Amino acid sequence: HSAVDVIRTKRDGRPLTADQIDWVIESYTRGEVAEEQMSALAMAILLRGMDATETARWTAAMVSSGRTLDLGGLRRPTVDKHSTGGVGDKITLALTPLVAACGAAVPQLSGRGLGHTGGTLDKLESVPGWRASLSPDEIRSRLDSVGAVVCAATEGLAPADRKLYALRDVTATVESVPLIAGSIMSKKLAEGTQSLVLDVKCGSGAFMTDRTRGRELAEALVSIGIANGVNTSALLTAMSAPLGRAVGNALEVAEAVEVLRGGGPADVVELTLALAGEMLEHAGLPAADPAEVLASGRAYAQWERMIAAQGGDPDAPLPRAAHTHTVAAPESGTLATLDAYAVGVAACRLGAGRTRKEDDVQHAAGVLCMAKPGEHVRWGQPLLELHTDSPDAVPAALEVLEGAFEITDAEMTRESLVLDRVV
Ligand code: URA
Repeated sequence: HSAVDVIRTKRDGRPLTADQIDWVIESYTRGEVAEEQMSALAMAILLRGMDATETARWTAAMVSSGRTLDLGGLRRPTVDKHSTGGVGDKITLALTPLVAACGAAVPQLSGRGLGHTGGTLDKLESVPGWRASLSPDEIRSRLDSVGAVVCAATEGLAPADRKLYALRDVTATVESVPLIAGSIMSKKLAEGTQSLVLDVKCGSGAFMTDRTRGRELAEALVSIGIANGVNTSALLTAMSAPLGRAVGNALEVAEAVEVLRGGGPADVVELTLALAGEMLEHAGLPAADPAEVLASGRAYAQWERMIAAQGGDPDAPLPRAAHTHTVAAPESGTLATLDAYAVGVAACRLGAGRTRKEDDVQHAAGVLCMAKPGEHVRWGQPLLELHTDSPDAVPAALEVLEGAFEITDAEMTRESLVLDRVV
């Protein structure tokens, strides 16, 4: 094989053979296909696409580029969830212990936030003492004893994706459905879960802003999972307004704990239960009743075990911001919209996220949405509460929130977050 031939095949709109795919991914991982060659190939794929067969092979080749976790022989069925990312998406925090409390083992290998979307590990690190990194042996033993693990992806899983993602980021080749789907699924397949549920977000706060593209991504993800022997389904869910009321690390942990204690915002509870139902079905536990498990306190007890097993103190107070600033409703009426992207960027500017990989996050920073779309607000009532340790950051956050919400006279009903199901 030669890299030039592989690039030319795709440049001319022909499908890549399984051999070409295996060779190019393996050689790129070893550094024998140059970055500029992979960059040309990524652009050819972005422009010409890959069919389902090519995409499944591409993903499998990325899995083979590194190590995989062996989760065979556990006492419980393994099932995981992956979200394509949104604003205020703390679902993993409540869902993982909930599904474990229903009898499954949940290996939730997670990431950190970048840009306007938060990362599960950053959120959990606001719990005093909690640590994100576990060895493969620790992951296995926690899954057997506790049933739930949220931790950083171990080194060496899908190294081809790590390299390729960094390259796509600087060559305008991120926005390709087969490349995104292959990237996400290579990490999930390497993790070794038997079943997987994908939460594909669409709306202003998501990676895919429109529903057609969201559906296309969901179909690609499910098809890769099935082709590689993982029981996979996807929910297409709305991400035009922040999920729940809390956006920012410790603020989101507090909200997830409310859900685990049987309360919490209706939209977060709705999505947690919808995803739990999907996961339990895949895990062969359709008789479990996640709503009852939340109400009974068993999910919260599982959260305490899961946090303590990774050094965290579930009873310790969460960090609080040194400074808060309230944005009041400029008129009375119904809050019609609250733009997820703007709130996400504001939270990031207040210190909750990073603009560069090496930045630290402020655990207490973020935005509390005191009203949600569909709710009535009165003039002067608090609409948003900005939390930060750096008061200097407030003007930049306020700037992006300008025009981020609309108040109308009309009545509105809350619509379901779940737009569609892809199997
Ligand atoms: N998330 C990933 O892991 N990979 C992508 O390509 C896009 C989002």
